[in-house]
Amino acid sequence: MNRVQNKVALVTGGASGIGLSASNLLAKEGAKVVIADFNIDGAKEAAEALVKEGYEASAIFLDAGDAKSIEDAVNFTVEQYGTLTVLFNNVGLTNLQKDLDVLNIDLDEWDRLVNVNLKSVLLGSRFAIPHMQKAGGGSIINTASMAGFASDQLRTAYGATKAGVVNMTKYIATQYGKDKIRSNAIAPGLILTPAAERNMPKEMQDIFMKFNALPYHGEADDIGHAVVFLASDESKFMTGQTLQIEGGHYLANPTIADTNNWIASLQK
Ligand code: NAI
Repeated sequence: MNRVQNKVALVTGGASGIGLSASNLLAKEGAKVVIADFNIDGAKEAAEALVKEGYEASAIFLDAGDAKSIEDAVNFTVEQYGTLTVLFNNVGLTNLQKDLDVLNIDLDEWDRLVNVNLKSVLLGSRFAIPHMQKAGGGSIINTASMAGFASDQLRTAYGATKAGVVNMTKYIATQYGKDKIRSNAIAPGLILTPAAERNMPKEMQDIFMKFNALPYHGEADDIGHAVVFLASDESKFMTGQTLQIEGGHYLANPTIADTNNWIASLQK
């Protein structure tokens, strides 16, 4: 309890999945939380549920692809709670029909994903940092992805923008560390949120599981708990880092399965 007491947090994409988990856990650990989302009904519902339980939370509409909307969400947070000391830049998406390989990717989709996944992190930080400077410090947390480290046949824009999030996290950390503003990212592996369930059939989920070191999938709270840690003063000497939270999926040498099969074939 109270690990983020007196902190004021803005969570983007807070109505569902990872953002919803982070909003709930931050509020329950003492933060005042603004849940900002395209899905304003979902954001209001989440905030109302927290208020009903005695926590402090509000909701605001956000279009993470629109600079004015991001600025409005930051201003709303400060008007509501007097300051802004935690920013969770969490919105990110892909489109499996259009975000294809380099030869075939839809270029309008490329622009849209750069805007929503990467520029929104720049803008959220740009609008929030002056308030953090005024408050004497703050914590910016960005949702990257393991797709920012490992490549794929498709989702070129998603992977490139998430790699950008990892490095922008370091730039923010370097530029504003002197103001006691920390910037860290989280790179989730497969987390069974509504988006992942939508985008990934059960057969694909099973293939993913085969490569995990741990015998289970990730859940939204596995990321939400890390967000609380990064928002809290427990991580006060940590900045510019990306936590890879992925069940050990990317740990082993990728040849391990074929090598084991080959060794087994020699023993026959
Ligand atoms: P989700 O779909 O469950 O939640 C995303 C939320 O963002 C929704 O409430 C949606 O309404 C909102 N949103 C979408 N576009 C928006 C926009 N333009 N403006 C404002 N709000 C918008 O998704 P999930 O899985 O929780 O993803 C959250 C973040 O985690 C994303 O950045 C995603 O790329 C990242 N991630 C997720 C992984 C997973 O396996 N679920 C793996 C790696 C990264």
